[in-house]
Amino acid sequence: MKKLAVIGCGGIGGYHLGHFLQFTDIVELAGFCDLIPERADSFCKQAESGKAYTDYRVMLDEVEPDMVFVCIPPYCHGEIEFALIERGIPFFVEKPLALELDLARKIRDAAAKKGLITASGFQCRYSNLVEPNRAFVENNRIVFVEASRMGSIPGVDWWRRKDLSGGQIVEQTIHQFDIIRYMIGEPTEVFTYGARGYVADEECPGYDTDDVSTTAVKFKSGAIGVISTGCYAKSGNCLDSKVTFSARDKRAELKILGTLKVYGEQPAETKDAGGFVVKGDGAVAAAGDAVVYRQEGDAGILCDRTFIEAVISGDGSKIRSPYADAFKSVSFTLACNQSMKTGLPVKVELE
Ligand SMILES: NC(=O)c1ccc[n+]([C@@H]2O[C@H](COP(=O)([O-])OP(=O)(O)OC[C@H]3O[C@@H](n4cnc5c(N)ncnc54)[C@H](O)[C@@H]3O)[C@@H](O)[C@H]2O)c1
Repeated sequence: MKKLAVIGCGGIGGYHLGHFLQFTDIVELAGFCDLIPERADSFCKQAESGKAYTDYRVMLDEVEPDMVFVCIPPYCHGEIEFALIERGIPFFVEKPLALELDLARKIRDAAAKKGLITASGFQCRYSNLVEPNRAFVENNRIVFVEASRMGSIPGVDWWRRKDLSGGQIVEQTIHQFDIIRYMIGEPTEVFTYGARGYVADEECPGYDTDDVSTTAVKFKSGAIGVISTGCYAKSGNCLDSKVTFSARDKRAELKILGTLKVYGEQPAETKDAGGFVVKGDGAVAAAGDAVVYRQEGDAGILCDRTFIEAVISGDGSKIRSPYADAFKSVSFTLACNQSMKTGLPVKVELE
């Protein structure tokens, strides 16, 4: 049986471990590494197998894993991936791949040169909502995309420092940026405004990132979009987070890993508040007019299993987010940071 190892036994590592425990028919959970020994020990206990390590090099040399899940914070990437590439070990790496595009590019190129199977943690691409959403955007010319995600600050200490996490766009809302790319193709240029001063220092000591941002995007397809993201929220009541793909007479509203509502596929009677039939601006489609798709199952299980099966079979074609593709989502989000910093529009580097 192929051997799987994990580097980084924190929050997301635990999420993956929950999946691996369901895959013991196809993989041996052979090694767990974390700088904090108790974390690696705890993973061994939960897996009831494998050995705990604090030095990933020692683990790689002793365990000789066939695949590795890299679940470390954004600022820790580099050496680990190059050690895996040097040893010819396929790897799954959590998003965001790195905080510098040059580093991600070097890793991408070195992994490709070695012909390694790679994957990244964009599990939303494996949702059952993706197929109907893609069918919608293929059958309808998308003019405008609007995305929003307003949430709060995650509990891990490194998150609140922009130099360690990359800030909210890069670390968190990258899922929205990635799913938009997966649906309508590549962005070409972004312009981003950020604002600070809503999250108080006493609420979150050491916090130095943007509370909210809005990005205007141009896409290769000709569509334009607006992506707004914030971590200032004290409650979900502050905004309805979703991604809307708007065609001239229809729209699809995606709540990632939640629901997909397609408006306009069925004949809809549109009425204004007074009950008169209106067209264009001000028309309101009744809720019953939407075709609704609901999330089923755990997309993360499919994401992990797809990578593991790819390594076992040697066929990476079913992986929806290989490293080289995830690189472009990282580039998209880093371009937003660059625009916020310079106050200028920034071209998205796709190569
Ligand atoms: N795909 C998703 O939806 C999703 C969700 C949450 C987090 N993440 C991503 O996962 C990554 C980790 O986030 P987290 O919340 O698990 O962080 P975390 O701080 O809870 O865990 C990271 C762990 O990595 C360990 N680590 C760091 N450097 C190491 C090294 N050189 N060797 C061994 N262990 C090392 C740390 O000690 C820590 O235990 C982040 O990039 C985050 O964006 C992805």
